[in-house]
Amino acid sequence: MTASNRPLRAVILAAGQGKRMKSRKPKVLHDVLGLSILSRVINAVMALGVEHVHIVVGHESEQIEKYIEEHHSTKITADFTNISPITTHLQQPQLGTGHALMQVAPYLKDFKGDLLVTVGDAPLLTGETLAPLLETHIKDNATVTVLSTIVPDSKNYGRVLRDDQCRVRAIVEDKDATEEEKKVNEINSAIYCFKWPDIEEGLKGLKNDNKQGEYYLPDLAVWAVSKGLVLSASVAKDYREVAGLNSRTELAEAIRHLRDLTNEKLALESGVTIVDPQSTWIAPEVTIGQDSIVLPGTHIMGHVKIGSNCTIGPNSIVKGNVVIGDNTSVVSSMVADSTIGENCKVGPFCHVREGNTVGDNVKLGNFVEIKKSTIGNKTNVGHLSYIGDTTLGSNANIGAGTITANYDHLTKKKHKTAIGDGASTGSNSVLVAPVNVGDRAVVGAGSVITKDVPGSALAVARAQQRNIEGWSDRER
Ligand code: UD1
Ligand code: CA
Repeated sequence: MTASNRPLRAVILAAGQGKRMKSRKPKVLHDVLGLSILSRVINAVMALGVEHVHIVVGHESEQIEKYIEEHHSTKITADFTNISPITTHLQQPQLGTGHALMQVAPYLKDFKGDLLVTVGDAPLLTGETLAPLLETHIKDNATVTVLSTIVPDSKNYGRVLRDDQCRVRAIVEDKDATEEEKKVNEINSAIYCFKWPDIEEGLKGLKNDNKQGEYYLPDLAVWAVSKGLVLSASVAKDYREVAGLNSRTELAEAIRHLRDLTNEKLALESGVTIVDPQSTWIAPEVTIGQDSIVLPGTHIMGHVKIGSNCTIGPNSIVKGNVVIGDNTSVVSSMVADSTIGENCKVGPFCHVREGNTVGDNVKLGNFVEIKKSTIGNKTNVGHLSYIGDTTLGSNANIGAGTITANYDHLTKKKHKTAIGDGASTGSNSVLVAPVNVGDRAVVGAGSVITKDVPGSALAVARAQQRNIEGWSDRER
């Protein structure tokens, strides 16, 4: 519900081809700091509390539908008996942005409220940018409200035309604009609020008698004026927040801009030192606590929450759903989908793969890989180890080169290892899972452990050493 208490829905137009991307992938599925453009737009409209999102698809529609199903967990159906938060609507062929909205109209039969319509290719869009549009729309009790913006170069955009009282009167597409109109640098972002069903008649009446032979959604502006309905506009303060992108160059520009905004916010609002903002790529979803330092060459993407006084980098990747506690360092390492406690030291050259829960005061050293494992407090895995599908207790010490052999290639099954509190393994031990090593047990260096080791026991599983006296001198 909006402030007006009128129901609010969003429509995302994403049926266009995106030819200039030169890609097999639909434009809206390209990545911008760890999230697709489409997901960023969906999140932006969802932030306004819309009750439903209609997405118009056309080009590569299967790929987009599959993506939505996988990432926004919804049923792909336009059948409204099944109320899911997102439905897709096929536009085939694509006859313009007005035609795109026409495809949604049959599913709005019982809807009375506001429609927030946006392009699908504006990755920097946020709820914060959209909120003033909605506010203006409601405050002015408008039928059509356009989100416009001022651009340095109005090149291919639709121009917003105002009368001498500064009221918006029309939107004219670049291809249809006169030389005089082309000089206007206030442009249509192609993001609007419409009162529904009030615009339905105008939508049905759209004509395609223009240079491109398309049904233009912005023609609803002129229609509203001709009917004496309220046409309003809200001006977005930074055009980059609403800009749709068309090429890989513009994609890179958008990513850089979002990086800069994110780094600036972390520095100014969260008190994070980002030593080299240009080489540090952090997604806007990431939170980092006070006095943490992010060193050059670091990428932090996803729903990542990093505590205070941490050092991340240089050259580290943190991605997915990650929580890192206070005072922890991650040096030249990769961490994915895991939780790491406080006062830990990770790296250099450590790979924390998915599904780990690491306690406090843990050391994960160089060339250590851990996966789907739980590691207790004050445990060290210092060097050259693989720990997979393992429950590792606290105060344990894993010797250099210890491997949990968790995978059976013949059965294709993974097996579990449990290592108790205070246990230790000698260098180069192999724990062949499934296997348990009890609390305070010790595994001798070079052992291949295939049977459980009871608590407090010493397990040695290697050939006895034999010394042959004088052998070296005789052989020389
Ligand atoms: C549109 C606007 C223009 C505005 C510009 C801002 C029109 C006629 N013009 O122009 O005023 O300044 O955006 O970027 O609306 N789409 C469909 N179905 C279609 C055509 C387009 O779903 O049949 C979708 C596209 O996937 C895209 C969006 O609508 O997300 C905009 O389409 P695009 O072709 O990029 O419009 P522009 O020519 O840029
Ligand atoms: Ca465009």
